Amino acid sequence: NGSEVVTTTMGFEDRVVVVTGAGAGLGRSHALDFARRGAKVVVNDLGGGVHGGGQGSEAADAVVAQINAAGGEAVANYDSVERGEAIIRTALDNYDRVDVVVNNAGILRDSIFAKMTDEDWDLIYRVHVLGAYKVIKAAWPVMMEQGYGRIINTASAAGIYGNFGQANYAFAKRGLIGFTNTLAIEGARKGILANVIAPVAGSRLTESILPREVVEALKPEFVTPLVIKLCSEQSAQTGGVFEVGAGWISRLRWERSRGAFFDPGKDLTAEAIEQAWSTIDDFSNSEHPATVQDTFAPVFGNLGIKI
Ligand code: NAI
Repeated sequence: NGSEVVTTTMGFEDRVVVVTGAGAGLGRSHALDFARRGAKVVVNDLGGGVHGGGQGSEAADAVVAQINAAGGEAVANYDSVERGEAIIRTALDNYDRVDVVVNNAGILRDSIFAKMTDEDWDLIYRVHVLGAYKVIKAAWPVMMEQGYGRIINTASAAGIYGNFGQANYAFAKRGLIGFTNTLAIEGARKGILANVIAPVAGSRLTESILPREVVEALKPEFVTPLVIKLCSEQSAQTGGVFEVGAGWISRLRWERSRGAFFDPGKDLTAEAIEQAWSTIDDFSNSEHPATVQDTFAPVFGNLGIKI
């Protein structure tokens, strides 16, 4: 509830933390914990509806008031994440730095693909992808200059696996994974770490699809500690994708079959692929590629070219 003082090894004194969509659900939980740990927090929330549309200042103001009442430091921002530069400006104007960005703001426009409108597609793209991009684009030069940064992007199991009725949302959430992995690579030399969480939590986004007692049991507070850990000063973890909810935390990685190699000096036919299918699809001796070099190695290796 934001009131107790935590003695902690993961403190955020003098750190400036931006949490988008922090007026409710997961974002509120993150903002409260960062503030409790001494961070100066920018509580961003557009205050609109679950499906987009509308806006208001109450959601962000209430969280700032809760933080202030507990003796913490926070400032509200009511911009849509589509105006990420304004959110980062709030951080810089008030606190002069940006150490942590948690892209969390989100809405849903679920629809079977046959009935999905261009608006459903665009709005989900704009909030989840363009929004995350805009906030990070504005924070990035500041983090590079500081030689320090922590970024969390919020994906979803739907983005990892696909999900019925969520083609737009799955596209957006998966997009964040490739985006974050690239930030992890480009930020590495400047002390910037970037990771993805795919949470499950009770919130207004899930209250329409889950029974009430399940929504209440799936506390956002089970997700926030992972965000805190990944954003802590001592963390070295970057480029990770984590599934997290209800006290379960797991890291994901790719699995790849060894694959079939065909003679590059001969024509390749669909029939030859058909014959080798059991090898292509054989995961008994699989590997775990993690970089594009892991793709180039067998490709160029098959040509006898060393890279
Ligand atoms: P929520 O609806 O409780 O909180 C989202 C907040 O984002 C709201 O306060 C809303 O006003 C704000 N917001 C929406 N559009 C915005 C915009 N354009 N600019 C600024 N703020 C905006 O939802 P919840 O569940 O806490 O979701 C947080 C994130 O977690 C979302 O990105 C969601 O997609 C993701 N997520 C949640 C899951 C869950 O089980 N709750 C599952 C997988 C992903």
